[in-house]
Amino acid sequence: MITKYPSRVRREKKIATSTRQRVTQPELPVVSPLDRGQGRSTLSPKRPSEDTAGLADVFPYYAGFGYDWARALLESLHVSDSAVVLDPWNGSGTTTLAAQHEGFRAVGIDRNPVANIVARLRVDAYMTGQKMTLASAVGKRHSAPSDDPLHAWFTPDSTKRIREWADHLSLLPIRQSCLPYVALFRSIRALSSAFEGSNPTWVKRAKSDEELVTVSAADFDAMLMEQQDFIASRVIASSDTLSPPVKIATALSSALPVPSKCVDVVLTSPPYLTRIDYAVAYTRELAVLGHDIAKDRTLRSALMGTTLIRRESDSPPRVGGTARTLIEDVASHSSKASSGYYRKQVVQYLDDLTAGLDEVTRVSKSGASLHLVVQDSYYKDIPVKLADICVEECTMRGWDLTSLDPYVVKRTLTSVNKAARNYKKSDVSETVISLRKS
Ligand SMILES: C[S@@+](CC[C@H](N)C(=O)[O-])C[C@H]1O[C@@H](n2cnc3c(N)ncnc32)[C@H](O)[C@@H]1O
Repeated sequence: MITKYPSRVRREKKIATSTRQRVTQPELPVVSPLDRGQGRSTLSPKRPSEDTAGLADVFPYYAGFGYDWARALLESLHVSDSAVVLDPWNGSGTTTLAAQHEGFRAVGIDRNPVANIVARLRVDAYMTGQKMTLASAVGKRHSAPSDDPLHAWFTPDSTKRIREWADHLSLLPIRQSCLPYVALFRSIRALSSAFEGSNPTWVKRAKSDEELVTVSAADFDAMLMEQQDFIASRVIASSDTLSPPVKIATALSSALPVPSKCVDVVLTSPPYLTRIDYAVAYTRELAVLGHDIAKDRTLRSALMGTTLIRRESDSPPRVGGTARTLIEDVASHSSKASSGYYRKQVVQYLDDLTAGLDEVTRVSKSGASLHLVVQDSYYKDIPVKLADICVEECTMRGWDLTSLDPYVVKRTLTSVNKAARNYKKSDVSETVISLRKS
């Protein structure tokens, strides 16, 4: 059912910047990231690493774009108050939050359930009359299951306490569980930070019992309460007006649970072709939710950009010339496995990207706008021009390019990878691509 919302909800832009202090955020500069003729937006899509706007610091998520930038973009579009905004790769929900705060209905889809808990928390944190619940009581169990995935980082007794909390939260309705879940994620991250390497998306596992983290039940409970208090102190109990509904769902971008032709704006950033395994990056949080990605590869292999190869499709990928050239260049590179494993990984990535774009096209109304934030990269010394590929693939699906804004990116995942540094490369860009559906 379509609900018409009264004139655009203009929320007080109150954002807490620290655990204690609340400040009124100044009005965003009136800039249109789309309007190159009148001067380019001063806001870069790249989220500052210490960003607190839109609760980004409550659970910093890999590769998100900035909340202020997303809001400025949505504000610049001048679409109707009843518009629906979609992010098919929603991550920690910057798009759904920015859309909510601009007064639009929003739909956020991500296949990673960890991301969806964070996205839910961020939108609920500002909802009128939404009481955020803190968890305080927890049942006891005799021991954690012997195959509990948390055993990869925690001693049996520590795992038992974390599992008691996770069991408790799994029985609560999602709206009551998202705050304590994020507090649980923050706690286990803090306790197991020694397993993180320079590559933020690769989390190690304990190699011996000596490496396992031990924490008493009392200390763990105290830590969890502290984390809950921190998040609760950041929640903005909203004083004004109704919030349009936000739907957050765990699904694949290639099978969006969204009816055809109902979306007005798509704002998103798909995974890049940089071999980021999102399931590995969130392996500890997924373990809290009961997923053992080391034993069950379903989730890991479903995520776009994964380094696992699914069964290769019999038909060649249905892609345009730029993507085909990339596949050929990778396949003919002289380095080991380029013609085998690496070619397959690139083909799989492009299959997932184009399946997502097919779905975005299906669900978008005619005249809808699509805004993609993508980063170019390198395979060895071969430039991966993801922005060019996206423009071409979208054009083939009936979208017209309206603007292209490249921003130079200094630190990329390639620059933290020692082996990848051996090849000569130039700076890469992150590009904001805007298109309109004809
Ligand atoms: C670049 S991140 C998006 C970050 C987001 N803009 C934010 O603010 O946090 C890409 C997201 O795509 C998700 N993803 C990867 N493969 C997917 C798929 N096949 N279907 C849906 N989501 C997927 C990942 O879990 C990840 O959260």
